[in-house]
Amino acid sequence: MSTGIARFGDGRDWFFEARYGLFIHWGLYAIHGWHEQEQWRGRVPAAEYVKLQAAWNPTAFDPDAWLDLLAEAGMRYLCVTTKHHDGFCLWDTQQTPFNTMNTPYGRDIIGQLAAACHRRGVPLCLYYSVADWHQPNYPNLGRHHELAAPKPGDEPDWDRYMLFLKAQVRELCSNYGELHGFWWDMNVPEHLDESVNALIRELQPQAVINNRGFDPGDFGTPERDYEQDPARSFDTPVEACQSVGLESWGYRAEESYYTDGHLLRSLDRYLARGANYLLNVGPRADGSIPPESAAILRRLGAWKAAVGEAFTATRPASHLVPNPQLLLTARDRTLYVHLVGPIGDSVKLKPLTTAPLRATLLNDGRPVAWATNLAPTDHLDQTGYLRLCGLPANEYANSVMVIKLEFAEPLQGPPTATTGDDLRVR
Ligand code: GLC
Repeated sequence: MSTGIARFGDGRDWFFEARYGLFIHWGLYAIHGWHEQEQWRGRVPAAEYVKLQAAWNPTAFDPDAWLDLLAEAGMRYLCVTTKHHDGFCLWDTQQTPFNTMNTPYGRDIIGQLAAACHRRGVPLCLYYSVADWHQPNYPNLGRHHELAAPKPGDEPDWDRYMLFLKAQVRELCSNYGELHGFWWDMNVPEHLDESVNALIRELQPQAVINNRGFDPGDFGTPERDYEQDPARSFDTPVEACQSVGLESWGYRAEESYYTDGHLLRSLDRYLARGANYLLNVGPRADGSIPPESAAILRRLGAWKAAVGEAFTATRPASHLVPNPQLLLTARDRTLYVHLVGPIGDSVKLKPLTTAPLRATLLNDGRPVAWATNLAPTDHLDQTGYLRLCGLPANEYANSVMVIKLEFAEPLQGPPTATTGDDLRVR
């Protein structure tokens, strides 16, 4: 897959090929299965929360099972929490005893995952929370995603915390072979320090770094469609993130799951505009992925397998048709129409007027009818615009239809967001 976005021109360019990844939030919070921020949102005293360490024993954890699901879902890379806000570390760190080695399980989760990713050629990215509710030097001051105040015995000291953080970054970037990304979260004081990403870049030059850390990094991270970016294509690298459930990123026993239609519209909207997409599940405490979450990933994977060519070596081309019901991607003589918001069973591709040779609904391969005669709504123009007609819109109301249009001649002109070119067919 490719996009119209300027590449980095180095090892980080894997990012523009992989496009769709699996996000995993996993840690002690999976034991109660309430929310990944159980300690803070549930007002659990730190002395209580740490007792979960003695119950960490994910005997069903199998990195290959996760990667099998990733493959079935049509995903191409993995991003996993190494340390969430609770401070519990999923790797063999020398910087704090609050880690997976000092539990009944006693094994390095990140090490096992990294080995499996390397064996199977899956790019691995690591999530790391700057905010930390456990490490005694982190200044918990009640700012965004911080505990209200330091815990008894804490010694808030930002400089010492940064030494701890950098030592952990060095471990992660030195002990697990090649990494493909570093995903910062919750740099609460918005403390800038370019030396942190510089360390990552020195140790792992092919790693892409997100924008939630200590400098702007390589890519933006819009979350859960909170903001609807009106851009019809992106001109800088973006990786949207979303979870399969409305409430939580970690495992939640009472999770409320999004509909397939909601997730597919979100996924298509980002992929068709040239962004990457990271979709999250929260494994249960035993290490298995909840069946509901796995089923969602598989259904989305079936959609992606059917329509995937619309994202393969194509470029965003939505500027050709400013209709907000649809987005476009293009390659040579082929245009792909992504119906992210159809309101009826036909869709107009104004200002296009050229009939295609063939129109196919990629979701199931059926042919699609078209017309170019004058529609009553275009009486002022007295022009017949290309319409796709008789679409099975109700049948696909919980999905996104993608229609492939093949034209007789190559599409002319670079259909980039800046040219605003019409689709010229010779
Ligand atoms: C939100 C959540 C946090 C999660 C993150 C992932 O910021 O509060 O728990 O890790 O999203 O992007």
